[in-house]
Amino acid sequence: MRILMVCLGNICRSPLAEGIMQSKIDTLRLDWEVASAGTSSYHAGNKPDSRSIQVALDNNIDLSQQRAQQFKSSDFGYYDHIFVMDSSNFQNVTKLAANNKDKEKVKLIMNMIEPQRNVNVPDPYWGEYGFEKVYNMLDEATDGILMKYKK
Ligand code: 4NP
Repeated sequence: MRILMVCLGNICRSPLAEGIMQSKIDTLRLDWEVASAGTSSYHAGNKPDSRSIQVALDNNIDLSQQRAQQFKSSDFGYYDHIFVMDSSNFQNVTKLAANNKDKEKVKLIMNMIEPQRNVNVPDPYWGEYGFEKVYNMLDEATDGILMKYKK
């Protein structure tokens, strides 16, 4: 199974989602692949935000090798599931879908634990929401992904 985590900048939320998911994939020795992307190109080529790197490190997860990339239409062909952080990401990604099959791959990540409630993972970039809160939400959401899709 191939999973893509998507946010706006690919430097705060989706790198954390990728790192947390990768760590669980490693621990469980699953034959899954995970990556992340941003709907914008603002930070393409950059490392994750230092605050994301730090909160991950506090939990023994290393994000320092990740580099931001922009989401592209061809990602629909490669990935089985595309988990977005908020409703704005959802709109921006589904806008690029060529058909319903593509569109059905796109899910709000928090719906994995709170189905149909459409809870957003808040953007921590501007400092209003703590990175630790975001970390904890994504830790729970990735457990939800495992519960739903692990055989
Ligand atoms: P992210 O956070 O989408 O979680 O990576 C953001 C990072 C950068 C910007 C916005 C959100 N920005 O506007 O530069």
